[in-house]
Amino acid sequence: MTEIKAVGVVGSGQMGSGIAQLAAVHGLDVWLLDTDPAALSRATKSITTNIHRLISKGQLSQAAGNNALGHLRCSSNLEELCMADIVIEAIVESEDVKKTLFLELDRIAKTSAILASNTSSISITRLASATSRPCQVIGMHFMNPPPVMKLVEIVRGADTSDNTFYATKALAERFGKTVICSQDFSGFIVNRILMPMINEAFHALYTGVATKEDIDTGMKLGTNHPMGPLQLADFIGLDVCLSIMKVLQAGLGDSKYAPCPLLVQYVDAGRLGRKRGIGVYDYRAAEQVKRSARL
Ligand code: NAI
Repeated sequence: MTEIKAVGVVGSGQMGSGIAQLAAVHGLDVWLLDTDPAALSRATKSITTNIHRLISKGQLSQAAGNNALGHLRCSSNLEELCMADIVIEAIVESEDVKKTLFLELDRIAKTSAILASNTSSISITRLASATSRPCQVIGMHFMNPPPVMKLVEIVRGADTSDNTFYATKALAERFGKTVICSQDFSGFIVNRILMPMINEAFHALYTGVATKEDIDTGMKLGTNHPMGPLQLADFIGLDVCLSIMKVLQAGLGDSKYAPCPLLVQYVDAGRLGRKRGIGVYDYRAAEQVKRSARL
């Protein structure tokens, strides 16, 4: 089985930064890559803050925390990934953009390296087809935020080998995660079920069934969800939700997956959720208060 000591993570947004943190805390060498230097600097700041928080809560020793930070390198030069045993891609949810990256990764990564995607919905078989090593391409779908959520959904493409599958599963388990396995159909297990619910919550809001607060409270208290669907959509990112609905609609060929016009409009307006300070809800005032309290 491929032994994984060094991990490359491409995309240093919400998911990539969390995956890089997990890998560093578990003693692996980590290269975190992004084309946007501002995203890399936000990721470095958030990983450092999170690791210091784990130390202050006694969940990580000072030495282990320092070690984790020492294991992490940030870069915008993809060529540095030639050292990685596995590269986990966590860039924008677009098949074309991901395929272009996989083509590049195939050229750069060592021949034994596994190329994994954190995609929420896109076909692993099709991403693999952009490479010369389809048996080493796999879906490794972390949940948000990766250091906290217990699940990793592993998706085998048509040609994914047993060696790739077992090495990826062992890595997820080393991170303390429970693994579930999905066939390679759009949305896999979790988003096949979650996203239509979120989309329906947008329809309820769009058609005036109820206020956003009542829709979220209804699902929290009525069905025991820890977060309402609209709040969760803001947390995931409305752009990510919209991309997933489009993949479900195209991949499963059913009009029931058509994205709600209100979701489309919010994304068009740049209301992408918590990461932009505004989505279904407006977080800017609360963030301002938090910032002032820190000064
Ligand atoms: P994000 O928007 O927070 O971050 C994406 C990052 O990728 C950005 O920093 C961007 O600069 C970078 N990027 C874009 N194109 C790039 C390229 N060609 N090379 C290098 N960097 C590039 O997005 P987020 O939420 O982290 O999602 C990333 C992936 O993870 C998507 O495929 C998404 O579907 C998936 N995912 C998202 C979850 C969520 O709750 N947001 C949960 C599970 C999976």
